[in-house]
Amino acid sequence: MKILVFIIILFLFNYINGFNLPTGYGIGFVDPNAKCLNYIGDSNDQPLCNNRFQNKGDKIYTTINSQIESQLNIIKSFQSITFLQDQCKDLLFAQFGICDIYLAPCIETLPMITPLKNISLPQRFCKSACVRMVSNCPRLAIEMDCSNPLLFPEIGTFYDLSPYGFTQNNGTYAVPCSDPTNFFNQVASNSSFIEICPSPLLLKNSSDPRYESKRGYTYLPPSNCVLNCPVPNYSKQKWDQLLTMSKILSTISFILSLYNVLTFGIINKKISDPHKCTCFFSGSIALVNLCDIITFGIGYEELLCPEPGRSAKQQYDPVCGLTGALFHLGITYCVLWSMTMGLVLYTSVKRQKWFKFNHFLIGNTTFTMISVIIAAATSKFEAGLGSIECWIRDRWYAICLFWIPCGIALLIGSLCIISVIHEIYKTSKKSISNRNDLLSRELKPLLIVFFISGSFLYLFIFFFDIERNFGGYRSDVEDYVLCLLNGDNQECFTTGPSYVPYFLFYLVIRWFGIIFFIFYGTSNVARKIWNQTFILKKFYSSLKTSPLSSPKNSDSQKHNDSKTNINNTILNENNDKYLKENKAIELESIKTN
Ligand SMILES: *[C@@H]1O[C@H](CO)[C@@H](O)[C@H](O)[C@H]1NC(C)=O
Ligand SMILES: *[C@@H]1O[C@H](CO)[C@@H](O)[C@H](O)[C@H]1NC(C)=O
Ligand SMILES: *[C@@H]1O[C@H](CO)[C@@H](O)[C@H](O)[C@H]1NC(C)=O
Ligand SMILES: *[C@@H]1O[C@H](CO)[C@@H](O)[C@H](O)[C@H]1NC(C)=O
Ligand SMILES: *[C@@H]1O[C@H](CO)[C@@H](O)[C@H](O)[C@H]1NC(C)=O
Repeated sequence: MKILVFIIILFLFNYINGFNLPTGYGIGFVDPNAKCLNYIGDSNDQPLCNNRFQNKGDKIYTTINSQIESQLNIIKSFQSITFLQDQCKDLLFAQFGICDIYLAPCIETLPMITPLKNISLPQRFCKSACVRMVSNCPRLAIEMDCSNPLLFPEIGTFYDLSPYGFTQNNGTYAVPCSDPTNFFNQVASNSSFIEICPSPLLLKNSSDPRYESKRGYTYLPPSNCVLNCPVPNYSKQKWDQLLTMSKILSTISFILSLYNVLTFGIINKKISDPHKCTCFFSGSIALVNLCDIITFGIGYEELLCPEPGRSAKQQYDPVCGLTGALFHLGITYCVLWSMTMGLVLYTSVKRQKWFKFNHFLIGNTTFTMISVIIAAATSKFEAGLGSIECWIRDRWYAICLFWIPCGIALLIGSLCIISVIHEIYKTSKKSISNRNDLLSRELKPLLIVFFISGSFLYLFIFFFDIERNFGGYRSDVEDYVLCLLNGDNQECFTTGPSYVPYFLFYLVIRWFGIIFFIFYGTSNVARKIWNQTFILKKFYSSLKTSPLSSPKNSDSQKHNDSKTNINNTILNENNDKYLKENKAIELESIKTN
C-alpha cells in the first residue's frame, strides 16, 4: 500500500489541469502496461483469496508488480491479523477487504472508448468498506488511511484517458470503487478466517484433540500458531556449541565416574564409609551422564521434539519420561550423597557415630525413589522449552521435589564441611606448629567445598533467577512475534536467560564426574587400591607357578594382610593414644575423600 501511495502522489502533480474533481472521487494514474488478467489462484498449500472475489471470473488488475508479489503482501497482512484476533472484530471481512485491495478488480476500456489502446484500470477500495475495517480493528489504521481519496474513494476514481483517444468529459474517465460488503454478506457464513503463521511458527488447531496444548504444543494466543521445537532461544551456532560441550563432557564424565565406582566400590578391599559415599556419588553422576548419552544416541531433536512444533511429554513419549526419571534419580541422589559425605566426615572427625551408614543409604534411596515416583505418577517429566534434556518443568513440582531438598542438602553439607575444617584447624593449632603443612593439608578439602557447594549453589541461583524472570520471558514472546512479522526470521530469537549463564548451568551439571575424578580418582588412596590389586594379581600368578603350596590358605592370609595394611595406613580410627598422629591420619583420609 505504501508503494501505491508513493506512485499516486508522484503522478498527481503532473496531472490534468483545470479539471474540477467532483466530491467523492479520487484521481488515478494510468499505467499503460497494466493488464486485466485472471487471478493466478492460491498456491495449493495456502488458501488465500480463492472464492473471495465479488464476481467470479472477474479479472484482476495486474501491473508489472506481479500477482505473486501481491500474494506475498496478502500473506504478510494475514499473518499480522492472525495475532490481532483478540483485539479486533469482523476480521473475516478484513480478509475479504485485503484481497480486494491487493488484487483489485480490473476494468478494461473498449476500443469505442479509447480507440488508440485498450487501457486496464483498477477499481479502488471504497471508503465505506475501509472505514468498516478500521473501525472494527483500529490497529489497521496504521496501514490504511481511509481519508485518502486516492486509495479509498467514496464513489470512484477519475482517470485521464485523453492520451488514448477518450474525448468525453474533458478526457477523464470514472471508474466506480469496489465494495465487497454485499458479496461478503452472502458468503460470510460459508467462509472461515484464514490464519497464517510467520515462519518458523507452525499452524496447528488448538481445539483439535490431536494438537491440544497439553500434548506439548506451545500456542501463542490469540492465534493457533505454535512455537517451533526446539525453541529458537539462541542462534544455531550457540546451540551447536552447547550440544557439543554436553556430548563431550558427559562422555568423559561418565567414564571417569565409572572409574571412581570401580576403584572405590568394586576392587577396593576395604570399603570405608567415605569410600561408599564417593562410590554412590559417582554412580549417580554416571546416571546423569548416561541420560545425556541416551539422548544423543536417540538424537537430541528426535527425543525432545518428536513431532513438528511439539515438545516431548512423558505421557506421549515414554523415552522422554524414562530419561527424565533417570536424570532426576541421578541428580537427586547426587545431591543427597554430597550432603552425606559432609555428614560422614563431620561425624568421623567428631569421633561420634550418630548414624549408621545404612541409615543414610536407606534414607537417601527412599527419598530419591519417592521423589521420582511422585514426578512419574503425575507425569511431570517433559522436554520443556529450550532445554537439552527431559526433566520436571512444572515450576512447583520442580521446586518441591528438587530445589528445596537440594537447598537443604546443600546447607547441611556445607555446614558440615566447614565445621570439619574448623575442627581440624583448632586441633592442628594446638598440636602441629607447622602452619604450611596445615595449609597444604587443608587445600584439598577446601577445593572440594568450593567446587561442589559452589556448583550446586550456582545451579540453585540460576534456577531461581529464571523463575523470577519467567513472566518477562513470556511477555517477550510478543516481541519475538513482532520480529517475525517484520520479516527476517533468521534474526529473531525468543528470550530466555542469557547464553553464558545458561551454558554454565549445563556445564556445571556435567563436570562433577571430572572433578570427582581429579579429587578422588587420582588420590593416594585410589593409587593404593590399584596397587593392592596389582600385588594380588602378582601373587596369584606366583601361586600358579608353585603347585605345592595351598592356594586357599595363603591367599586368604595375604588378603587379610593387605586389609590390615590398609587399616593401619589409612583408616586407623581405634588408636586413641596418639592424638596427634591420629589427626594426621584423619587429615589424610579427609584429603582424599
Ligand atoms: C481491445 O479490446 C477488444 C474488445 O475486447 C479486443 O477485441 C481487442 O483485441 C483488444 N485489443 C488489444 C490490443 O488487446
Ligand atoms: C472541461 O474543461 C473546461 C476548461 O478546461 C471546463 O470549463 C469544463 O467545465 C470542463 N468540463 C467538465 C465536464 O468538467
Ligand atoms: C458454500 O461452499 C460449498 C463448498 O465449497 C459450495 O458447494 C456452496 O455452493 C457454497 N455456498 C455458497 C452460498 O456459496
Ligand atoms: C479445529 O478442530 C476442530 C475440532 O476437530 C474442528 O471442528 C475445526 O474445524 C478445526 N479448525 C480448523 C481451522 O481446522
Ligand atoms: C526459551 O524461550 C521461551 C520463550 O521466550 C521461554 O519460555 C523459555 O523459558 C526459554 N528457554 C530457555 C531455556 O531459555
